[in-house]
Amino acid sequence: MQLLSQFLRRQDTDEELMDLITTLTVACKEIALKLRQGALAGVLGTTDNTNVQGESQKKLDIISNEILKTVLLNHTLVAGVASEEESWPVPGNKDGRFLVLFDPLDGSSNIDVNVSVGTIFSILEAPEGEDFSTEQPYLQSGRKQLAAGYVLYGPSALLVLTTGQGVNMFTLSHTGDFLLTHENVQIPEETREFAINMSNHRHWEQPMRDYIGDVLLGADGPREKNFNMRWIASMVAEVHRVLTRGGIFAYPWDARTPKKPGKLRIMYEGNPMSMLVEQAGGLATNCYKNVMDVQPDDIHERVSVALGSSKEVEILLEYHKKGV
Ligand code: AHG
Ligand code: MN
Ligand code: MN
Ligand code: MN
Repeated sequence: MQLLSQFLRRQDTDEELMDLITTLTVACKEIALKLRQGALAGVLGTTDNTNVQGESQKKLDIISNEILKTVLLNHTLVAGVASEEESWPVPGNKDGRFLVLFDPLDGSSNIDVNVSVGTIFSILEAPEGEDFSTEQPYLQSGRKQLAAGYVLYGPSALLVLTTGQGVNMFTLSHTGDFLLTHENVQIPEETREFAINMSNHRHWEQPMRDYIGDVLLGADGPREKNFNMRWIASMVAEVHRVLTRGGIFAYPWDARTPKKPGKLRIMYEGNPMSMLVEQAGGLATNCYKNVMDVQPDDIHERVSVALGSSKEVEILLEYHKKGV
């Protein structure tokens, strides 16, 4: 079985990028350990703090964020980091080559019920001569990502990674190594499985309501096939299912958010997951254009996301073209 480092070397990955990815895995192993200890380590539950997203922070949101910051900002290659849990970017070594953006713990509403959560990350080149405590150097479109991935803390801990040469999965072994277990992952083009928070139905745009309406009609409707639904409420687990067996996952336009972009954040969730999905042959859209083609104006910008099996996402896009 192949170690992550051996695999990256085989792919001719840039040495410094390899070094950074290894460092990221160190932080994620530490987070995995805290999660595994759970109540025994007193890390479950909610704090009195509210983050910049307006969400109340779980203890583990804060712990995971601190672990990632400490590990990454001590690395000379890191010019700065941006996090879902930090109001502003945090500068590192001004001569560092990389910016790392992360969702320290995705699906954190699931921690206390012991359901899968994960760490999502996106790596960008640090432009020269910029101030890495400001958001400007981080505001790059998803197409500029050098690498992206997540670590899913589920029944097993898995690193899912792309450096722009396909998607590969590595399972954390009992010796603490990430070992290659799924090579060159490909998302099936077609699916009968969808994932969306149906309770938000009344807040969506009409094309999304029409699409889901037809999906729900199953074999009796225009889609002429029956669908199954899943909603874990951890994007990282939903995307993992989509990468593993296909499907469509959406957190769409929602009338409750200003400018209606829905809940997910483009820098920490939308872009890294879109890179993985595209690299695995799927599609990731905001319903009008590819997520990675959106130019972000704000480090915490939100984005509508629909991603997964390419033919299914194309059908969803047809509803939106008709709706314009
Ligand atoms: P986070 O825990 O990082 O704030 O992200 C939660 C996100 C995402 O993981 C998931 O798809 C979605 O929120 C769940 O939303 P609902 O509460 O609407 O189910
Ligand atoms: Mn959150
Ligand atoms: Mn998240
Ligand atoms: Mn989070």
